[in-house]
Amino acid sequence: MERARRLQAIAPYPFAEIARLKEQALAEGWDLIDFGIGDPDMPPPECAKRALAEAVEVGPLNNYDESSYGLPAFLDAVAAWFKDRFGVELEPRGEIKVTIGSKEALAKAAWAYINPGDVSLVPTPGYGVYASNTQFAGGEAYAMPLGPDTGYLPDLDAVPAEIANRAKLLFLNYPHNPTGAVATEEFHQRAVEFAERYNILICSDAAYSEVYYGDEPPMSILAVDGAKERAIEFHSFSKTFCMTGWRLGWMCGFEDGVAGVSRMKSYVDSNAFPAMQQAGAVTLRCGGGYASQVRAAYKRRRDILVEGLRSIGWTVEPPQGTFFVWVPSPQGMTSAEAAAKLLSEAHVITIPGSSYGEYGEGYIRFSLTMRADDVEARIAEAVDRISRLDLSSG
Ligand SMILES: Cc1ncc(COP(=O)(O)O)c(C=O)c1O
Repeated sequence: MERARRLQAIAPYPFAEIARLKEQALAEGWDLIDFGIGDPDMPPPECAKRALAEAVEVGPLNNYDESSYGLPAFLDAVAAWFKDRFGVELEPRGEIKVTIGSKEALAKAAWAYINPGDVSLVPTPGYGVYASNTQFAGGEAYAMPLGPDTGYLPDLDAVPAEIANRAKLLFLNYPHNPTGAVATEEFHQRAVEFAERYNILICSDAAYSEVYYGDEPPMSILAVDGAKERAIEFHSFSKTFCMTGWRLGWMCGFEDGVAGVSRMKSYVDSNAFPAMQQAGAVTLRCGGGYASQVRAAYKRRRDILVEGLRSIGWTVEPPQGTFFVWVPSPQGMTSAEAAAKLLSEAHVITIPGSSYGEYGEGYIRFSLTMRADDVEARIAEAVDRISRLDLSSG
């Protein structure tokens, strides 16, 4: 059966291709060191597991959550956590909505706001969901280039006025996948001013808000004056609590925006599993120490990889946040060639930067998450394998 043109027009989801190559390599018995997909390998907090087991056992939480925004216990826990973490007050009935992780909600933001011919401004390199769903909805994704010269922040003044006038959504993502950049307060202020000037809704993807390495935790855009009338922020339990498969998150901020995306959601899904929401409420209260342990583990891994690659002559900047390391591909090679060589000759999986849009070319992404008994030793071994490659000719 012929698939819809909207689906045919878009390249396969990048990880599907990596998964296929990986399956093939594993079937041939290769000892792969896998820096591919960013999926935390550490177990979720014990208190989260207990809370979920109890919620399932005690019930009654097996039915649809028919509420408009989510279970009251969940919304109250999010509001308390948000106030404590970002100093931002949220109204639990109206400014917060439970989501099934952040991916679906980011996608539905495009469906809720983009008309054919409208524009979304998307960071490139960046998470592909912003652009693909804009295109599914009949809109145009305008790629804002992110490079080292601007600290991987988009130059909003460089967006042509004709594009900005047609733009409905501005997607931002800090800490940023794939570059690991963190945004300044000044940048967030400029983004809100820009959105006000052009009447744009900001969709701030904060999935990695708790994965950072500096002394100052990343801020919420909602802490900026005026942002509550301009921005929805998308949060997730996936990376903060190593709960990717649990599918739980929330969006919050601009009340009418939260209501708009919620309306779209009501036609497509039926809210997160109520027992999961209950467990999420408990996790937000009990998981603070856990998040700092996870950060410390990623920091050790980051340092082994960055220092290791530097020691063999690669130019690498350590990320300020996320568990990704964004590394320039060896000279004379495209990112796809570099990733292919690492896979075929060192049996090391990385993701070519070109998977993250046109401005991702010239880089490869290493994820610091990996399933292995001793991840730090595996990272060191990967560096050793890479050091043996002849990368001079491409
Ligand atoms: C930038 C970014 N946003 C959102 C997500 C989606 O995460 P989830 O749907 O698990 O919350 C991911 C996942 O990799 C991501 O990298």
